[in-house]
Amino acid sequence: MDKIAIASDHAGRELKDELVAFLKDSGVEVLDMGTNSPDRVDYPDFGIPLSQKVSSGEIKKGILICGTGIGMSIVANKFPNVRAALVNGVFMAKMAKEHNDANILVIGGRVVGKDLAREMVDTWLKSRFEGGRHQTRLDKISKIEDK
Ligand code: RB5
Repeated sequence: MDKIAIASDHAGRELKDELVAFLKDSGVEVLDMGTNSPDRVDYPDFGIPLSQKVSSGEIKKGILICGTGIGMSIVANKFPNVRAALVNGVFMAKMAKEHNDANILVIGGRVVGKDLAREMVDTWLKSRFEGGRHQTRLDKISKIEDK
């Protein structure tokens, strides 16, 4: 399985650490891009470096966590080739991959509990992009980036 990068701000740090442990236990190679202190930080300072890695193709998949997930979603979707999906349930995590081919999963650390977050990550990683009509739609979005 591809290496997964993960980053958060202070509001997502606890959940990030949980997910790092969960992924490592599942045998996934993880790149922990911080934050790793309880100090208050600005989510773009952690969302940008991870999104750059996914945008360039250096990393195939990433997970971003802030308090609500909203700020990290806004940041990540500024980058070409990034399809960041804010999810708060297992169905959303499944659809994020099957229909949207999301390469960054975004979670709200103040919204979602640890068990649900683990289940969402597991579902997203195990799901497969369906292509077809969904690819046509993604191609239309890519064209915006070409302009
Ligand atoms: C931090 O207080 C909070 O604003 C941040 O984690 C995030 O929820 C922003 O969207």
